[in-house]
Amino acid sequence: MNLKDQIDTNNLPKHIAIIMDGNGRWAKGKGKIRVFGHEEGTKSVRKTVTLCAKLGIKNLTLFAFSTENWNRPKLEVTALMKILVSSLKKETTTFLENNIQLNVIGRIDDLPNNAKKELLEVINKTKDNDGLILTLALSYGAREEIKNAVVDIASKVKNNIISLESIDDLLINKHLYTHNLHDVDLLIRTSGECRISNFLLWQIAYAELYFTDTLWPDFRENDLFEAIINYQKRERRFGKTSEQICSPLHNAT
Ligand code: IPE
Ligand code: IPE
Ligand code: MG
Repeated sequence: MNLKDQIDTNNLPKHIAIIMDGNGRWAKGKGKIRVFGHEEGTKSVRKTVTLCAKLGIKNLTLFAFSTENWNRPKLEVTALMKILVSSLKKETTTFLENNIQLNVIGRIDDLPNNAKKELLEVINKTKDNDGLILTLALSYGAREEIKNAVVDIASKVKNNIISLESIDDLLINKHLYTHNLHDVDLLIRTSGECRISNFLLWQIAYAELYFTDTLWPDFRENDLFEAIINYQKRERRFGKTSEQICSPLHNAT
């Protein structure tokens, strides 16, 4: 049986988030400069996005550039921004053909003007699509996202717009960049690194974590199938016991 047929379509993760890592090492392994790996990585992005849309995944969030990535050499940062603009231009038809809505999270004002303009254009062109919501995390940092939410909420309390008692998980969610998305069910990180690197800290509270040694430019359909199959084999207990999950009768006793 091929991998695709092993997937239970009734138990798909609603939200998959991916830390696309290993482009630099992939290029180095081939004796090329790091930017070559970033360019090659766009092919994995296209394949992953299209497959998620076809599978009926509701949310896919890709970590494309972190607040910390601004500290990389200027040449690499410039190249990454160029790749972002050219990919957006190139992939607009992919988004339209696959009913994908583009969304972006992060400190977008930090991006170069042409990248901002292109992003807004594609977001506008795809705004009526109601299939997969593809979120690009750009100049994104989770601590900053949480800090912004805290400042917003505190100022609303100060100005008597909301009461202190009304602050709960739902209200905090509403003040995050990801207010329109499900919690993350499956977080994938490529390249063998087992860390979160300041990505979606609030939203991954109960995500299943999946780390693979595959470098991002080598990530293909079968790698995604493997991650989903692995996810579907896990028992998500959310604090309950295994017996409660397997037999609802246990809830009563
Ligand atoms: C991920 O690949 C892409 C970005 C962070 C923009 P890296 O560029 O981090 O690749 P490695 O980790 O150095 O191999
Ligand atoms: C995380 O990868 C950011 C993105 C994938 C965009 P990094 O390669 O920047 O992470 P660290 O610095 O190794 O943790
Ligand atoms: Mg890296």
